[in-house]
Amino acid sequence: MGASEQRSLTLHPIGFIRSQKQVKFQALHQPVETQSERNVLELLPDNRHQVALQDLAGFSRVWLLWWFHRNSSWRPLVLPPRGPARRRGVFATRSPHRPNPLGLTPVQLIAVERRRLILGPCDLVDGTPIFDIKPYIPAFDSFPDERAGWLDDVAAGLETAPEFVVQFSPAALIQAEWLLTHWQIDFRSRLIELLARDPTPHRSRRIRRRGDSLFVIGCGAWRAFFCVLGKTVDVQSLDAAYPLRFLNNLALEELPDREAQVAFVDRFAGSAS
Ligand SMILES: C[S@@+](CC[C@H](N)C(=O)[O-])C[C@H]1O[C@@H](n2cnc3c(N)ncnc32)[C@H](O)[C@@H]1O
Repeated sequence: MGASEQRSLTLHPIGFIRSQKQVKFQALHQPVETQSERNVLELLPDNRHQVALQDLAGFSRVWLLWWFHRNSSWRPLVLPPRGPARRRGVFATRSPHRPNPLGLTPVQLIAVERRRLILGPCDLVDGTPIFDIKPYIPAFDSFPDERAGWLDDVAAGLETAPEFVVQFSPAALIQAEWLLTHWQIDFRSRLIELLARDPTPHRSRRIRRRGDSLFVIGCGAWRAFFCVLGKTVDVQSLDAAYPLRFLNNLALEELPDREAQVAFVDRFAGSAS
C-alpha cells in the first residue's frame, strides 16, 4: 500500500478546551453567539505553540478542529434533533457520531494570552482535544446564499406558526416557577419551544409514550409528563431526570444540575407521574 493510501494516521492534540460545560447536553448543537460566554483553549507546553500563535490576535474569529472524544461509535444514518423524525446520512449532518469524529467550530477569538486563547461561546465540552486552529477569513469562509439541503426545508417549516398550544397544570406551573426562581432554570420556555412544534414520540427529541395518553420528554437534567388532546399539549408535571440513587452517588461525576435535581426531589417528592 502506498503512502497516499495509508489506512490510519496519528494526530496529536495541540491543546484542550477548558469550559464550564461538563456534559454533552450543556453544549448546544452550535454555539449561541448571543450568549456572553468565555472558554479557554490551553495549548500544551511547547514553545513552538506560542510562536505559532503569532499574528493570530488580529482575527476576531478562528476555526477550531477538534475531536468528539466522548463518543466511540458512528452510524451511517442519524436522527438529527431538528426537523421531522427522519434519518439523514451522517455526512449531511453535523452529528458527533461520525467515522472520524472530527468537530469543526468557528468561534470568537477574544484574546491571545501566551499559550492560551480566550474564546467566546462554543459547543465543545470541557476537556475536548483540539487538533488545529485556523483563522476564520470572511472573504473565503462565508457563503450565506448557498443551499442548505434538508435544513432549508426545516427552516421553512419553522417560519410557519407552531401547531400546538402548550398549557401547564397548576402543579407543573408551581414546579416550573420554583426551578426558575431558585435555580434560574427556565424549563417552561424550553418545553413550550419544543412541544409547540411537535410533541410526537421521537428518539433524539427524547419524547416517549408512557401510557395510552401520557408522554414524557427528557431535556438534560429534567423531564416533563404531558398529554396531547387534539392540538393542545397539557404539561402535567415536571421531574428530575435522574433517580436519587444516581444523584447521591458522588462517584458519578457527570450528572447535570445535580444539586438542583436533589433539591427538586426533596421539594416535590412523589409529585411526578
Ligand atoms: C452537533 S455537534 C456540532 C459540533 C461542531 N460545531 C461541528 O459542526 O462539527 C455539537 C454537540 O457535540 C457535543 N459535544 C461537544 N463536545 C464533545 C466531545 N468532546 N465529545 C463528544 N460530544 C461532544 C455536544 O453535545 C454538542 O451539542
